[in-house]
Amino acid sequence: MEIREVAVVGLGTMGAGIAEVFARSGIGVVAIEVDQDALTRGLGILDASLARAVSRGRLSQAEQDEIRGRIRPAPGFSAAAGVDLAIEVVPERIEIKRQIFAELDRVCSPDAILATNTSSLSVTSVAAASQHPHRVVGMHFFNPAPVMRLVEVVSTVLTADGLAAAVADLARRLGKTPVQVGDRAGFVANALLLPYLNHAVTLLETGYATRDDIDAAATAGIGLPMGPLALLDLIGLDTSLSILEVLHGEFGGSRYVPAPLLRRLVAAGRTGRKSGQGIYQYPAADTPQDGNALAEPGPSTVTLIGPGGAQEAELASAAAAAGVNITRNPAHPSDLVVIAATPDQRVLPAAIETGRAADAVGLHVAAPGLAEIVTTRASSAASVATAGALAAGLGLRAVGAPDRPGFLVGALLYPHLADAIRMVQDGYAAAADVDTAMMLGCGYPQGPFQLLDKAGAQAVLDGLRAMHAAYGDPAFAPPPLLAEQVTVAAGLPG
Ligand SMILES: NC(=O)c1ccc[n+]([C@@H]2O[C@H](COP(=O)([O-])OP(=O)(O)OC[C@H]3O[C@@H](n4cnc5c(N)ncnc54)[C@H](O)[C@@H]3O)[C@@H](O)[C@H]2O)c1
Repeated sequence: MEIREVAVVGLGTMGAGIAEVFARSGIGVVAIEVDQDALTRGLGILDASLARAVSRGRLSQAEQDEIRGRIRPAPGFSAAAGVDLAIEVVPERIEIKRQIFAELDRVCSPDAILATNTSSLSVTSVAAASQHPHRVVGMHFFNPAPVMRLVEVVSTVLTADGLAAAVADLARRLGKTPVQVGDRAGFVANALLLPYLNHAVTLLETGYATRDDIDAAATAGIGLPMGPLALLDLIGLDTSLSILEVLHGEFGGSRYVPAPLLRRLVAAGRTGRKSGQGIYQYPAADTPQDGNALAEPGPSTVTLIGPGGAQEAELASAAAAAGVNITRNPAHPSDLVVIAATPDQRVLPAAIETGRAADAVGLHVAAPGLAEIVTTRASSAASVATAGALAAGLGLRAVGAPDRPGFLVGALLYPHLADAIRMVQDGYAAAADVDTAMMLGCGYPQGPFQLLDKAGAQAVLDGLRAMHAAYGDPAFAPPPLLAEQVTVAAGLPG
């Protein structure tokens, strides 16, 4: 169906951006707000965005005028009588959304599509407020709407056949990439992102790792543009908490139980960047707790213990190149015992076997340039500090982690990948759509399934099995689909 004119109801943060997106694509926009002041404010957001584009040379003055000319501020809902689609972008409260849908039912033509930009309410419950629920879809844009390319197109059990496909076509016409899914809490992107962020808060709260090490593990270790704790501050801890509550209500399970620290920070008003303080302070008030900064003078002789293999060989040659003497015999005197570690094996037994457990730490190069320094229950503080100096001498960013499965990078990544695999296993979304959603909606340079390939399905399976065995949390149980994929990749029958 041809979409020539749309109504955008609510011109706040998202609605102003969405109105801009439609108008930029040559579609007329009827802009509806709660009152004249709100309308003026909303058009101000839109004008500022267009003016920015002009000042950056991305838009000519003439184009700006043309785009602006397509936007028709409306005194009330009756102006939406002729639109082909109306999208509501009002606050995330079901009673307000229901009221908007009742108004739209009243004024819009029976053929018009009604869309909601809700992030976390059930599209079905919004649709149920319409007399014509078959014409209601979710059209979930990401912030900032003019920039972010993902649109999750959500159909409910009541949505007419073909409607989601038509809305997906419309999204393409807007220059966006649609992902078509059913109505489940959090859709794809939020349902995967939020439990991962929540888990990062748990790791911080339980003292598993420091704030800066958690964020460095995600950026330097996984290759994400931002650490989970910094990202929480950007999204807003309050917004994150309310989405988690919705996810928990729908899915149950430990991954969605908001970390107590998250609740406390929200209760304290530390909601993130917007309040000047969240997990970090804005502007930054404290110096980074860089593990390397704590380091002492580097060791001159290191005992390197391990099962052999590429990681160990690389460590040995890097240490030798940095002028560090390497011995393989724990009985020889040395400044530090380094156990070349892997995230599915514990370091402590190997450390005890050397007879010098206090001098021993694990070291795992989790990604090029990033070393996890693994502290066992027996490691002395001095040996941990010496290991930090060794890592610095080898040009590695060091993050500290306890001797637990996954260490730090895997502890963040493996359950996140398990969530993504489970989403595909459940038949909710295709792997390619999951990757698209996380790349275009959350700014991931690679989607979860590409990250899985990079980490190695076998390594992720081993890591999850070890985490599940250690903690017994069903969220860490490897999804059967992962084990099947590993089996297929190995070319084994079954
Ligand atoms: N902010 C985000 O990052 C983001 C991202 C994706 C989706 N969303 C969703 O988009 C929706 C809007 O979020 P937002 O952040 O833009 O909120 P917002 O508070 O910035 O904007 C909401 C706007 O709706 C207007 N409004 C309220 N009642 C109205 C009524 N009866 N009629 C017309 N207008 C009315 C308000 O005046 C306000 O301008 C929510 O459903 C939210 O979940 C938000």
